[in-house]
Formats: sequence, structure tokens, C-alpha cells
Amino acid sequence: MKKFPTTFYFLMLIPFFQLTAQSLIPVYLNPNKSIEERIENALSLMTLEEKVALCHAQSQFSSSGVSRLGIPEINYTDGPNGVRQELMINSYAAANWRNDSCTGFPALTCISATFNPVLAYDYGVAMGEEALYRKKDVLLSPGVNIFRTPMNGRNFEFMGEDPFLIGQLAVPIIKGIQSNGVAACVKSVALSNQESNRKYINVMVSDRALHEIYLPAFKSAVEDGKSWTVMGSYSKLQSQFCCQNELLLNKIIKKDWNFDGVILADWGAVHDTREAALYGLDVEMGTNTDGNLSKYDDYNNYNLGFPFLRLLKNGEIPLTVIDDKCRRILRLIMRTSMNPKRNFGRFVCEDHSAIARKVAEEGIVLLKNENNLLPIPIRKYKRIAVIGENAIRDLTSGGGSSELKVKYEISPLEGLQAKFGKENITFSYGYSAGPNTWGKVVDSKLDKDSLFKVAVETARNADIVLFIGGLNKSWFQETEGSDRQSYNLPYNQDELIEAIQNVNKKTVVLLLSGNAVAMPWLQKVPALLQCWYSGSEAGNAIANIISGEINPSGKLPFSFPKKLEDNGAMFYGKKSYPGDSVVHYMEDILVGYRWYDTKNITPQFPFGYGLSYTSFEYGKIITDKKNYKTDETITLSFTLKNTGKTDGSEATQVYATQPIASVLRPAKELKAFKKVFLKVGDTQTVEMKIKVKDLAFYNDRTQSWTVEPGEFIFRNASSAADVKSSINITVSN
Ligand code: BGC
Repeated sequence: MKKFPTTFYFLMLIPFFQLTAQSLIPVYLNPNKSIEERIENALSLMTLEEKVALCHAQSQFSSSGVSRLGIPEINYTDGPNGVRQELMINSYAAANWRNDSCTGFPALTCISATFNPVLAYDYGVAMGEEALYRKKDVLLSPGVNIFRTPMNGRNFEFMGEDPFLIGQLAVPIIKGIQSNGVAACVKSVALSNQESNRKYINVMVSDRALHEIYLPAFKSAVEDGKSWTVMGSYSKLQSQFCCQNELLLNKIIKKDWNFDGVILADWGAVHDTREAALYGLDVEMGTNTDGNLSKYDDYNNYNLGFPFLRLLKNGEIPLTVIDDKCRRILRLIMRTSMNPKRNFGRFVCEDHSAIARKVAEEGIVLLKNENNLLPIPIRKYKRIAVIGENAIRDLTSGGGSSELKVKYEISPLEGLQAKFGKENITFSYGYSAGPNTWGKVVDSKLDKDSLFKVAVETARNADIVLFIGGLNKSWFQETEGSDRQSYNLPYNQDELIEAIQNVNKKTVVLLLSGNAVAMPWLQKVPALLQCWYSGSEAGNAIANIISGEINPSGKLPFSFPKKLEDNGAMFYGKKSYPGDSVVHYMEDILVGYRWYDTKNITPQFPFGYGLSYTSFEYGKIITDKKNYKTDETITLSFTLKNTGKTDGSEATQVYATQPIASVLRPAKELKAFKKVFLKVGDTQTVEMKIKVKDLAFYNDRTQSWTVEPGEFIFRNASSAADVKSSINITVSN
């Protein structure tokens, strides 16, 4: 018999050793076992105390793992447009690390304005990578609450007024974040639409508006985005707090939407152990600590801590309840920190800056451009006046939990100086806001009158003026914790803009904000750009748009009413906003453009609106058939031609309505959109698909979605108010 060297026999034994080694690994640690097997095994090894410990915070931004078994704790971070700095373990105070300054990505309103789901995915990937590098397991993003009134101080953190647009962009953000093995957290379900009285506001909303307007983006995030976590809100729905709301959490999210992840409480939004335990909350965060724990072990006294344990021990709450929560939490851990494929992430790198800049560039909306005042050729003007505090103000800090400590932030002034030459630009403050101070307004120490005068003189002596103002992240402006107090621009900017344009007709206004504002000066100003809060690369993006290097293609994700009372929520007065302890959503399903269109009110700027440096010609909309059954898909198409002199992109939109129905149907509802890039002179056929079932309305009576047979009208449009053509089809059973 042939003899082999001993190493051969040794090598032959390796698979055996491997098998034995594998069988020694506990199932929950074995990456070759399925997640569900690993969860069941871990659960079977845990004590009741260990299970309960999973269900509440153990510090301001973490919750426990199972230390005895080597199951890691969960680290959370805000969100929603970058990774927040490290905070002290038991408070919101900065930990003052030197290595935690992140890339500031544009706010969610800006990504929404891009109408670009592909870019939204890249944005999610990049933010997820940053979170991963910083060893975070859950990034508290995206925020998808509906823009109901311009007074909401947190609109800038969310994605506008249209549930369909939000859903279409939130899904890729979530997928992008989670592609890193970092959980997204879609927040805050539901009805977080104002900051006034937010900790206890009881929202009275019809079932129809709840399902048609306020929940669809969450539903898409769960069903299509497969978000691994969801955050509850502070509000009450039907008199029950949302973080312990049986209908919302158990029935709608967990049962109807088949959610298998973790429902997380907003910080300090849990009020009752029994309700939180029984009605679907999985992890409680931030309760009563407000960042000031006196004793470390106070976390055990959370509703879902010792009080929960007591109820489980004395049999008042069944053990199946805790096991369900633990399965979800373990699933989250397996999907994130115990995911063997998880990488290490990246933090503040050229790729992330490039994505931040691209989102900012694609999100900026050109609202007005008389006589093609923009773009400004680089060497055309020698005396460019840049006026307004937002040209230099740090707009990534302030505003509450979305505040970012960024590695760098190119201000508009810096971006413009780099593009047009420092020597050609004169800066003047024009106005000045005080510092961002939580809970109060602190006035600027600079003298208002002299700032005003100097600005007007600077404008008078300039070839062209770029006024860079808007809102900021101060109290009563755009921040968590307070709503706005006026629809007008703050700090006398309206008067200032008037005065500036009186002495210089070439005045371009750039608004840096995440909300609609009144524009009493609009008729007199030839050019206007909505620039959002666009993060680290804001200044470069703005300069690229102003110089024409980038052709604007953003569209508004919410309407700008001419005056506040024109907005549906504001129309009905105090009862409808801000309410007191109760608020009634009296405009019902007619939110945003659904209101303006149905009530024939012309907004200042409609939803979906945005100009370009080029022009587009839309062909007539056609469908593949005339009659459809309820389970079919409609294919719509039309041609789009770039008829101008610059290459550019256009976010084309298709709206639907049902003219005759048993219930009120809005005059228009966005059902599809597509952003198309066209070179000068090029034409493309734009095709979109709409499922007939997505033409349904939510039937309050039957508590289900209903497609009512009959006639439907589809319109292709460049904005909610700029319809190009329409086509009628019929739907039958
Ligand atoms: C906010 C959340 C945020 C949390 C943690 C809460 O006040 O509402 O959106 O994620 O704080 O900072």
C-alpha cells in the first residue's frame, strides 16, 4: 500500500476538527446557523432579569446586551442627516471627543427635493458607513413626518408634505444605511407634526387621514425598506401615547405591516409600564432622565425595567410578551453587531463629501430667475455683494437632536469666494441672530441699525447682490422643542431685502432653511433659490449652482402658501393648530397641495416646483390601455425634450384623481415621478408604472383600502400646478 507523509493524514483530519469546533460553538454565536435559530438558542439561555434588561436604556444612547453570553449592547446615535457627536454617558452634554466630527450631510428636506431615489440610496450608504465607523448599531434616521403646517419647528428634519414622495425616498435611504449592517430607525411614528405641546398633544385625526397621509411613509419604510427599527413619537393618537399605543404599534405596525424589528421609544416618551409592555413597545429610551441621572442604576427603574420585571414575576404580564420583545431585540443585534459580514465603515472621506455635495446640488431649488439673471458667469462681475448672516453662519449646529459637530462646513461665502475670487466679493452681515440657545432666544450683540445701513450701502455699490438669509437653528426658528412664531423671515430680513433691492435691482435671494416662509418682497426680486440646510458642502454646492457649473434640478417637497391662513391646517384656527392639549386635524386628507388644488387656492410656490437653466417640453401623456382591472398595472408614458441651451435634469411627475367617487378625492395625488437627465436637444420617452391598487382610498367604514371602479384622470406635470396634459382611463372589477 502506498504510504503518504504524516502531514497528509493530518490535513485529512482538518474537516473533522472544524466540525467538532463548530459543534462546540453555541448556536447563538454560530454564523452558519440561521438568525432565527441563533435567536431561539440565545433566548433559551437567558434569565428573566437578562431579558428585561434588554428592554430599556442603560445609558443615554445605549441599551444592554447580555454580558454573560457575550451578546453585545446596542449603540444608538442621531440622526437624521449625519452622525451626532459623542455625548456623556448619562446626559446630552458633549463628551468632547477629538475624533467624532462627522460629514454634515444635507437635511432630509434637501434629499427629498432631489426627487432622486438613486442618490437617496448613496446618501443612506454614506451615512451608514459613518455610523459604522463610529461603532453605532442604530442610526436614528430617516424622519418621515408630514409637513402639515409651516409653523412646525422640525419640518427641516423631515421630508415634505407628500406621503408617496417621502416613501419613495425613505426606502432607499433605509436600504443604504442598512447595507452596512447598521439599522435605520424610521421616526417618529406617528403624528409628530408640531413641537408646541409635543410631549402630550392628543391628535384627533380621522382614520382616513391617518392611513392616507400620516402613515404611508412609515408603511413603505417597514414593508419595502425593511427598516430594522421604528421610533414611536411623543404625541397621543386616540388619547393613548404613541409609544404605548395598541392600535398603532401592535395592530398596525406589528400585525398589519408584519414588522419583525424593534419599536423604540422616543427619548422620554413612555409613561406607563403596563401599556408600554402590552401594547408593542420593545425598547424604552430617555425616560425621566433628561440627561441628569443621579444614580447609574436609575435605568433599572424605567417603566420597562424593574416595574416590568415585577409584573412578569407576579404573572400579571405573560412571559410571551417579554419573549417577543427579546426575539426582536436579539434579531436587531444579530442583524447589526453580530452580523459576521459587517464591515468597519468609513468616516469623513472624499466619497462622503462628494455625496453630500451632490445631494446639496441636486436639492437646491431655483424658484425664480427673471431674464436669466442666473447663472452668473465667473468673470462677469467685479463687485459682488454677499449680504446676510446665513452666508457665514454655522447651520449644522443647533436645532436639537439633529445637531451635528462637523469636520468642516463650507459656508456660502467661502464657496462663492473660492469660485468667484475673494477680491470680487464684499460681505456684509445685514442682520444678525444671537447664538443657538436651547429653550430661549438670545439676541445678537451687534447693532441692528448699523448692520442694516452698511448692507444697503454695500448693495448700492455692487454690480450684483446675493442676499443669503432664511431661517436658522435657533429657538422659535427651526429646532426641536419649539415651533416658529411667525411665517415671516426673522431679524427684519423682509425690510432688508426690500431696501437692498431698492438700491440694486440685481438682487438674488438665497434662502437657507427647511421650511416655507412669507415673501412680501417676491415681486421685486428677480431671482430666488431655496438652498435648505445642506451640510458640509453647502457653500461649494451653492457656488456651483450660482456659477452654472451645475444646472439646478431640485423641486419643492412642500408647497409655500402665500399667507399662513392659506395652509389647510392653519385655515381652521387654533383648534386645528396648535390646539392645546388636543389638536384636531380639521383639514383631514387635504394636506399640502391636496388642499390648495382642491380648494382652488394658489400657493406662492406649489409642491413639485423648480426651475432649471434650460427648458423642457413635455409630450402628451398616454397609457398602454384604456380599461384596467383592479389587479393590473398601468403603464404611462410621454416624451420629454430638452429645448434649452444647457444639459439638465427634470423631475417629471404624474398625478391622479378620481373625478366621481363616493368620497372626496383630492384634485391631485402624486402617484409616480421620474428624474430624467437630457442633453441639449435630446428627447426621451419617460415611462412610469402605477398599480391600480395604488389608486385606492382608505375606507373609514370598512377599515380597508378600496379601489372604486370608475374613471380616473392622470396628468403629467412639472409641478402640482403645472399640468402638461391628461388622459382618462377606466377601472372595473
Ligand atoms: C427626538 C428624537 C431623537 C431623540 C434622541 C428626541 O428628543 O425627538 O428624534 O432621536 O431625542 O436624541
